[in-house]
Amino acid sequence: MRVLVTGGAGYIGSHTIVELLRQGHDVCAVDNFDNSSPVVLDRIQELTNRTLTFHQTDIRDTAAMTDIVAGFAPDAVIHFAGLKAVGESEAEPLRYYDVNNGGTVSLLTAMDAAGCKRVVFSSSATVYGEPVYLPFDENHPCQPSNVYGRTKYFAEEILRNWQSATDGACAVLLRYFNPVGAHPSGRIGEDPRDVPNNLMPFVAQVAVGRRAALSVFGNDYGTHDGTGVRDYIHVVDLALAHIAALDFAARNEGTEAFNIGTGQGYSVLDMVSAFSRASGRDIPYKIESRRPGDIATSLADPSRANAQLGWRATHDLDDMCASTWNWQSTNPNGYGDG
Ligand code: NAD
Ligand code: UFG
Repeated sequence: MRVLVTGGAGYIGSHTIVELLRQGHDVCAVDNFDNSSPVVLDRIQELTNRTLTFHQTDIRDTAAMTDIVAGFAPDAVIHFAGLKAVGESEAEPLRYYDVNNGGTVSLLTAMDAAGCKRVVFSSSATVYGEPVYLPFDENHPCQPSNVYGRTKYFAEEILRNWQSATDGACAVLLRYFNPVGAHPSGRIGEDPRDVPNNLMPFVAQVAVGRRAALSVFGNDYGTHDGTGVRDYIHVVDLALAHIAALDFAARNEGTEAFNIGTGQGYSVLDMVSAFSRASGRDIPYKIESRRPGDIATSLADPSRANAQLGWRATHDLDDMCASTWNWQSTNPNGYGDG
């Protein structure tokens, strides 16, 4: 298949491109490096011994995107490009709506001009908001509680409306739970620009000595140890879910949402002890107050993806921690090491 990947230099995009190239697909990637480094492109090609086409372009530049889509003539698009920091989205809502929603409209406009009718979209479990019941299945009401979550929900609606107005189109909405881990080679991984917002990269930076201690945001939740529980999913499993979704999009018409998680929950303290085991390092932490907007537990029911995509997560918590540690310890400053 010929696959156009937006946000291809990012964390999840880079891991997905590796799996696409490995399986013999042809890839054209687009990224403006807003939150990534060109170094990743060399690493991808080195890991796979294959080349990819790349354009440094903003997805909101509809004229440039139209030329790129027409020139590459993809069978399908995987749309990762977007902004993802919850706190920043509250402070800069218009930028988030512009990139995440305006960018999606721009991409679909370019796809329409070239007659490309299949898209796989990076959505998020955050579209569900506060749980009405758990685990979340795809019929759970969507009541996102922050701007970032709303941009993901609105992008899903844009894709749904585009698909129903476009003969023969298919839109697959992948609602990721908590992506963690790195490629087992240690050559690509998550490289946050500033202080990490997310648990796993923060823990990894404490283990490697870049930060003194982890702040655990609350130990008074109704969970087995009082700290927040999440459904962590290995990024290689997540990458493979995109390939299963492309296959689904090639065989089906319509819009379908799928939860991409394991169905297994771990608390913050479970993650700290698993990472400490994997790295052989102490992870100092201090208990602090709850982070505003956090929920106690987020857990996927992944059975629809298991049945309809023929996909299932196979990596366990030890794989998630060991691969993160391999990446962090061999690239202590991420791609800044070159
Ligand atoms: P990332 O920031 O590493 O990757 C996103 C990529 O998009 C970056 O390389 C960035 O430079 C690029 N980009 C941003 N704005 C762009 C624009 N206007 N034009 C072109 N490129 C642009 O993030 P990620 O973790 O790989 O996430 C990928 C997608 O998955 C995002 O849409 C994110 O919202 C979604 N998602 C991520 C998580 C997570 O926890 N990592 C969870 C659920 C959903
Ligand atoms: N946590 C800490 N200390 C930290 C960071 C996080 O205790 O320094 C805790 C949080 O309170 C939470 C858990 O670790 O209980 C996980 O937090 P993350 O920030 O890693 O992940 P979230 O579940 O809050 O959100 C992530 C992404 C969202 C995405 C969501 C669901 O940040 O963009 O998963 O996919 F929408």
